[in-house]
Amino acid sequence: MDQNQLKKETALAALEYIKPNTIVGVGTGSTVNFFIDGLAELDFEIKGAVSSSEASTQRMQDLGIKVFDLNEVNETIPVYVDGADESDAGLNLIKGGGGALTREKIVAACCDQFVCIADESKLVDTLGKFPLPIEVIPMAQALVARKLEAMGGQPKLREGFTTDNGNIILDIHDLQITNPLEMEKEINDIAGVVTTGIFAINAADILLLGTQKGVKKILPA
Ligand code: A5P
Repeated sequence: MDQNQLKKETALAALEYIKPNTIVGVGTGSTVNFFIDGLAELDFEIKGAVSSSEASTQRMQDLGIKVFDLNEVNETIPVYVDGADESDAGLNLIKGGGGALTREKIVAACCDQFVCIADESKLVDTLGKFPLPIEVIPMAQALVARKLEAMGGQPKLREGFTTDNGNIILDIHDLQITNPLEMEKEINDIAGVVTTGIFAINAADILLLGTQKGVKKILPA
C-alpha cells in the first residue's frame, strides 16, 4: 500500500469513534481530507462539525456537512480527529505542516478525546526531525528567531505563507525535542509566539497508525 492508501485506511478507521447526533471536531491536512470524505458518507446523522481551518471548512461545506462557529457551540464535543507530522510513543505530537496549528490546538482543547490519524512514517523515537512550525505575530519574527536559535534550532521563514489568522510561520530545524511538555511551555512563553506546533499539554489520547499490516491503535506509553 502506498502512503496515500495508508492515510485513507487510517482516516476511515477513525469513523468508528463518531457517534450519532454529535458535533465532530475536525482537523486539517491530507489524512483528515479522507476522514471528511468518510464523514459525508456515514449511514447515520451527525449534527455537524467544528473546523480547524478554512480549507477543512470549505471541504465539509462542499460535501454538505454543517460547520458550526466554535463560539456558538454550548455542548460537549466528544471527539477531535486530526493528523500529525510526528508522534512519539507518549502521543506528544508535532503539528502544523499545513500551517493550521493554532486553530487545531483550539479545537482540540474543546473536545473530550483527541484521536490522531497518521501513517506509520509519522511515529518517531524523538520529536524534531520534522521542522517544528511556530505561528508568530509578524513584528516578532526576528525576536522569536533569535530565541529559538538560542535553544539550538535553525529557524526558517515559511516563504509566501500566511496563516488563517494573518500571521507567519517559522519552521525550526534541528531541534531535539526530548521534553515536549517543557519545550511547548517555553516556546509559548516567548513574546510574539501565537502557538508552537508541539502538542504535549493536550497530547493525543489515541493514535490510529496506518501500517502495512493494518491500522494499529496505540495508547500513550
Ligand atoms: C496541519 O496544519 C497539520 O497539523 C496536519 O495535521 C499535519 O501536517 C498532518 O498532515 P497530513 O495529514 O497532510 O500529513
